[in-house]
Amino acid sequence: MCGIVGILGREPVAPSLIEALKRLEYRGYDSAGLATLEQGRLTRVRASGKLRNLEEKLAASPLSGTSGIGHTRWATHGRPNETNAHPHISDKLAVVHNGIIENFRELREELAAKGHVFATETDSEVVAHLVAEQIREGAGPAAAVARALTRLKGAFALAFLFDGEADLLIGARRGAPLAAGWGEGGVYLGSDALALAPFAHTIAYLEEGDHVVLTRERVTFHDAAGHEVERRRQPLQAGSFLVDKGNFRHFMAKEIHEQPEVVGRTLSHYLDLASGTVRLPFELSFDAKKLSRVTISACGTAFYAGLIARYWIERYARLAVEIDIASEFRYREAPLPNDGLTILVSQSGETADTLAALRYAKTHGQHILSIVNVETSTIARESDTVALTLAGPEIGVASTKAFTCQLAVFACLAVALGRARGVLSEAEEKALVAELAATPGLMADALAHEARIELVARDVARASSVLYLGRGPAYPLALEGALKLKELSYIHAEGYAAGELKHGPIALIDYAMPVIVLAPPDATLEKTVSNLQEVAARGGHLILIGSRAAREAAAADLAGFVELPDIASAFAVLVYAVPVQLLAYHAAVFMGKDVDQPRNLAKSVTVE
Ligand code: F6R
Repeated sequence: MCGIVGILGREPVAPSLIEALKRLEYRGYDSAGLATLEQGRLTRVRASGKLRNLEEKLAASPLSGTSGIGHTRWATHGRPNETNAHPHISDKLAVVHNGIIENFRELREELAAKGHVFATETDSEVVAHLVAEQIREGAGPAAAVARALTRLKGAFALAFLFDGEADLLIGARRGAPLAAGWGEGGVYLGSDALALAPFAHTIAYLEEGDHVVLTRERVTFHDAAGHEVERRRQPLQAGSFLVDKGNFRHFMAKEIHEQPEVVGRTLSHYLDLASGTVRLPFELSFDAKKLSRVTISACGTAFYAGLIARYWIERYARLAVEIDIASEFRYREAPLPNDGLTILVSQSGETADTLAALRYAKTHGQHILSIVNVETSTIARESDTVALTLAGPEIGVASTKAFTCQLAVFACLAVALGRARGVLSEAEEKALVAELAATPGLMADALAHEARIELVARDVARASSVLYLGRGPAYPLALEGALKLKELSYIHAEGYAAGELKHGPIALIDYAMPVIVLAPPDATLEKTVSNLQEVAARGGHLILIGSRAAREAAAADLAGFVELPDIASAFAVLVYAVPVQLLAYHAAVFMGKDVDQPRNLAKSVTVE
């Protein structure tokens, strides 16, 4: 959730720490801080709120130390104020922390009894005091960290800087990502490759339970048992991590507009367009004919991608699909069948609950396939098979292009499984591949309706509550539409299966509450139109997203209509996702909200 960075440099490191933190701000932005060694003494600067507040403070009193650590916070324990901002300091060390220390209360009591005084409400501060206690007892910095790590419970990544030790940084990883990097300007620690891309030419990821001791000359990795180990160094392609908004006002707008390209790129990775067949870029680790069931688990938007995929996998591969959100699945103790396939979906590949769901499925003998956007992520590394979404870095906190790329991968997988199981004919495969191949162009057509969608969004922005309706694959897309609206504009919104309307929510209908109906031209269109008419008959505030044919069939007074091309495809939801995202985006922009970094959210949720 939080982002951490550490640098042992040759020049003053504060500007580079800030640059790395900017790249990590997607992980949280409640507060930020850094510590450097000024003439050998630990000095820290912290600020609540966005990174620019920290930058302002540093501009007023610059730091010149050549070693330092930095942090951008997504609050778990303790309010997001300056006092609780990292780094935390005790005696002769400073620490930055990403994750949760589960046993911090016991440790805090134990350390308080030994005279440690706590300045914050955080779980993180206990780590500083725990290491300080080991140093008081005579351990050197590295031994003190190693001993302290044995006492910590929870999931975390840590970086330490020590008073009077200008050539020492220590990092540790358990359950949250951390990488070490080498560059011309020094050695580095960072939550991910994106943070280190401007500085490091080579990186190595810490494995679960590792800690690493860095000096400018030597970087030494230790495994969970404390043994010195080697970790694979890999080149870092700085160019592939370029982060800029191009001509767009927000990252989110840029990422929505990139979709025809990145969905096209993802599809071409999985399809052979010349022969009209699906060609998976990996070997399946199982015999598709013997598969008994598919289980899907994920969080948030990635979960909705899985819900949509259920329709495709059941229909095209004739496989039963079980799906649950990862935070429930991991604790349900669900029995999993022999010869079962579990699919985890995650943009970041680091979501704590999704990772725990993966581990549960693994211990229950499932074949593990993950659909991820970050190839080097923990979820990717722990999977038997990795299906990459080629969305590129997604910086806007609300997921857009990663979602449609997840759908693209799922669609290809459903068809591939159908073929491998002998339930789809060659001709059916060709027809489905042709539908998929047409999708990026149709998404571009949908983008061309942006001005119209912006007008509808202004109408929606005036509401305090919104209902989204859809059937079939458009039902999970309605859930996603409601989520996008909630998280970006803070308008309460709910997604409903259109057929459920009369079982309760119809009582809510009045003109103050927009009802957005997703009506792709599939076999259920007629039913969706009937539901729309039920809303119209009760004086509802109707907005239709559908084809001209749907508009004509609706024959009702509409407050808004977004016309999409007539797409006779089960994959139409990929195209319908575009207006759904743009609607939430423009409503939020119109309301003056921070669309790239909505309040209280973080891009990568590495805590439960
Ligand atoms: C919503 C959103 C979140 C993420 C969820 C899972 O716009 O982005 O709901 O989809 O936190 O994140 P990943 O895909 O990284 O596992």
